[in-house]
This record gives sequence, structure tokens and C-alpha cells, in this order.
Amino acid sequence: MSKSPFLSNCTAETIRDAAAALKAGYLVAFPTETVYGLGADARNPNAVKRIYQVKGRPSDHPLIVHISSINQLEKWASEIPNYAIALARDFWPGPMTLIIKRSEIAKDFITGGQETVGLRVPNDPLALALISEFQKISDSAIAAPSANRFGQVSPTTALAVSAELSDHLREEDLILDGGTCTVGVESTIIDCTGTNPRILRPGAITQEMIVEATGISHFFPLSNNEVPEIRVSGSLESHYSPMAKVLLDQTPIAGEGFIALAEIPTPEGVIRLACPENSDEYARVLYASLRAADEKGLQTVVVEQPQGDGISIAIRDRLTRAARGR
Ligand code: TXA
Ligand code: MG
Repeated sequence: MSKSPFLSNCTAETIRDAAAALKAGYLVAFPTETVYGLGADARNPNAVKRIYQVKGRPSDHPLIVHISSINQLEKWASEIPNYAIALARDFWPGPMTLIIKRSEIAKDFITGGQETVGLRVPNDPLALALISEFQKISDSAIAAPSANRFGQVSPTTALAVSAELSDHLREEDLILDGGTCTVGVESTIIDCTGTNPRILRPGAITQEMIVEATGISHFFPLSNNEVPEIRVSGSLESHYSPMAKVLLDQTPIAGEGFIALAEIPTPEGVIRLACPENSDEYARVLYASLRAADEKGLQTVVVEQPQGDGISIAIRDRLTRAARGR
């Protein structure tokens, strides 16, 4: 298989070409504010099948359908609770995925055979332009997981997508380059099938923000070790793992990689991979820093986790899984 085109400085013409590629059944990797996604026509079973092949992902893991706006919600979902509408109004476009009972156009090949569908409106101009253009020509939406091989670190640049997937993509598939993702960790996933919302995967939209938007304060976030009955692949025990061994909250020794907030100094001989000033920057640089450890051929990377709430919860969630290894 040959390398697929890598398109930067995307124009209206590039977007039209990419939407046409999706309509023809090819894959288009595109930026979102969280991480890059590997997109396919959400109504084309053969195109979606290729996502699983390219990712090396088990086919019973459901995919998020990326829609252009809240107006598309009722097309893909049914029995939408009021609190889900409140969340969509407040946080879309944004780093939040809602799990809702599916409508009949969300087929088994998208939902992994479940009665629910994951929906998100990403907050990225390129992504929104692509989804809108594709909707216009196809009346469909874009199914997309993170654009990494199964179990590995999600890509936050187009170059990282290419490093992960170009050996598995076809010449007609595309990678759109929209620069570095601004959030850096995957969307918050919220189960909206019960009487109250429930966080399945923490992200930039926090529990406090959900309470504020819905007025519902009584809900049960998953504990780290709880396995939900619905399949959330990001909830597998080991995930988000680089080749290097990830050790948490230890003192690094010479020759090891080190990721920590800027206020923490680098011990002698240790290879500093990132020194973010705050937790938002931490999230933004985390995956690229883990990738850098592998690019440098490091055996071990020590990570001092950020404390506190907000996006730090999502960072610690991903790091705990990364530390469980492959
Ligand atoms: O930020 C993000 O969410 C990124 C960007 C590209 O949008 N996407 C992403 O997709 O992280 P993925 O496939 O790597 O992770 C999505 C998670 C998976 O763990 C999947 O199992 C879960 O969402 N999911 C999707 N639909 C679901 C459903 N109907 N029920 C339960 N979990 C679902
Ligand atoms: Mg993923």
C-alpha cells in the first residue's frame, strides 16, 4: 500500500475533495480540538469496515458519529433526554460525546450492535467544514475513532497520524493537516441513557460543568476499575500506551524520559520531554511527549501526574492506562 496524500493549508477546494473521497468510500483523517480522527461515511458499511482494518481494532467496538450541529441530533438519536439537550446546547461544538439511544439510521456496524450511538460536534473549523460539506453531498455524517492503531497513543498532529497509519492507508485516502490539537486528550463521554448523566470517559468537559449545565448533581462517575456493561474501548485497562514503559510519580534516573509540570526540576542526566506550565498545556503536550519518548528510543518514561480537578482527572485517567502497558 502506498502513502496517502497529506494535505496542509486546506482550502474550500480541499474540503470538497475530502468530502468527495468520503462519499466514494475512502477514509479521511482530520483534526478535531481533542485528537485527530480517522473518518468514514457513517452510513457506508464497507467504508466503516476499513476503519477497523486500518486501526486493527476489534469490530464490536462502537464508533463516534461526528455531526455538524445539534440540528442533526434527532436524525441519529431517539428518546433524547432533556439533560442531553441541555448538554449539547452548552458544550457543542466541543470536546463532549453523548451516548444516546440510536435512531434507525445508526446501524449495528456503527454501534457495535448496541442500541446506543455516540454523537459529537467537534470544535475545529476544518472538522466542521468537512462534516458540513459531506452532509450536504451525502446526507450522512462522519464516523471516526482516534486516528491511531488500536491501543496506542492518540495522534495530536497530522504527522503523528501519518506515522501511525500511512502503511495501512490507501492512495485515495487523505490526511488533512489542521495543525496541533488544542485540547490534546479525547472527548468526555457521557452516557445519556439513564435518568441521570454518567461520565464514561473523563475529558475537558468536567463533572462540575455537567452539573452546571443540567442542574443534575446526583450522578455516578465510573471508578477507574469499574468495567461498564457497554463497551467503551478507551476504558480497556491498557490503552494509550507508547512502546516505552510508563512509570508514574517516581524519581527518574539518568537516561530515562521525564514529563512533569514546569515547576518540577529535571534531575541530572534525565531527558526532559515536556515541562507544561499548567494542566491545560499538560493535556495539549502529553501525547506528543509520549510519542517523543518512542522516537528517541527511550526504554522508560517517568511521568509526574498533575494534581487536582478539571482536565487533570482526564490526564491521570489516560496515564493510569498508559502505565499498565501493552
Ligand atoms: O475526542 C474524541 O472523542 C475523538 C475524536 C476523534 O472525536 N474520538 C475518539 O474515538 O476518541 P475513539 O473511538 O478512539 O474512542 C471513542 C470511545 C470508544 O471507547 C468507544 O467504545 C466509545 O467511545 N463509544 C462510541 N460509541 C459508543 C456507544 N454507543 N456506547 C458506548 N461507548 C461508545
Ligand atoms: Mg481511541
